[in-house]
Amino acid sequence: MGVSLEMIDVTKRIAGRALLDTASMRVAAGEISVIVGPSGCGKSTTLRLFNRLYEADSGTILVSGKSITEIDPIELRRTVGFIPQIPAMFEGTVGDNLRFGRNLLTGMPGQPSNPDTEKETLMLAGLSPDFLDRTASKLSVGEQQRVAIARALMLYPEILLMDEPTSALDPHSVGKVERAVSGINRTVGTTFVVVTHDPDQAMRLGQRIFWLNGGSLREIDKNEVEDLMKGKNGCE
Ligand SMILES: Nc1ncnc2c1ncn2[C@@H]1O[C@H](COP(=O)(O)OP(=O)(O)OP(=O)(O)O)[C@@H](O)[C@H]1O
Ligand SMILES: [Mg+2]
Repeated sequence: MGVSLEMIDVTKRIAGRALLDTASMRVAAGEISVIVGPSGCGKSTTLRLFNRLYEADSGTILVSGKSITEIDPIELRRTVGFIPQIPAMFEGTVGDNLRFGRNLLTGMPGQPSNPDTEKETLMLAGLSPDFLDRTASKLSVGEQQRVAIARALMLYPEILLMDEPTSALDPHSVGKVERAVSGINRTVGTTFVVVTHDPDQAMRLGQRIFWLNGGSLREIDKNEVEDLMKGKNGCE
C-alpha cells in the first residue's frame, strides 16, 4: 500500500517551544491513523501543518510523494480535507452547506453537484437524505459533525484530517461519527488522520496510532495507549 502522507524531520516552534522537533511519521494510503497525546502538545498544530494552515520551520511534508510546498494551496486543501473540532455551519439548509463547501474551492469542472450525489454523500456520513432540507444551524452538534464530514466529502478528498471529532458529543453520537468514519474509509478508501484525547477512541478507530509528546511523534502499539495517557495532564 502506498504512502499517503509523510512527515520527514519536521520542526515547528510556537512561542519558543518545539511542538515538533525533527519529527517524522508515515500515514499509509487508505488507512485510519490516529494521533493521540496530552493537551497542548501540538496535535492540532500537526494537523494544520498537513494542509498548510501553518507552515513548518523546517523539514518536509509529502502528500502522495509530492512536497506540499509544491502543490497549489487550493489543490492541496481539496486533496487534504480538514474538519475542525466544532465545525461551523453556514447559513441555510444542509444542502446549501454541501454545495457551499464545494463552491468555496472553485474550479471543479466535470464534477457538477447533483441531488443524487448530495444524498449519497449524506448517507455515507451516516445521515438520511431527508436532512438535505433541514436548517443546518438547528441540528444537534452530533448531526452537524456528520454534515461537516459530508461537506468535506463533496470535494472528493484523498485524505481527511479530523481534529477531535467527537469531543463535544454524547456517547451515542460518538458511535455514529465513528461508524461514519469507518464506513467512508471502507467504501470510498479515504485516508483519515484523526486527532483524539480519548485512548478508547484511538483503539477503536486507529489502524495505526501515533503518540505526540515533547516534540516527538512515534508510532505505538494499541496496548500502549492507555498506559501512556495515564496521569498525563500536560505536555512534557
Ligand atoms: N496560532 C497560535 N498562536 C499562539 N500559540 C499557539 C498557536 N497555535 C498553537 N499555539 C500553542 O501551541 C501549543 C499547542 O497547541 P495545539 O492546539 O496544537 O495543542 P493540542 O495538542 O491540539 O491541544 P488540545 O489537546 O488541548 O487540543 C499550545 O500551547 C497553544 O497555545
Ligand atoms: Mg487540539
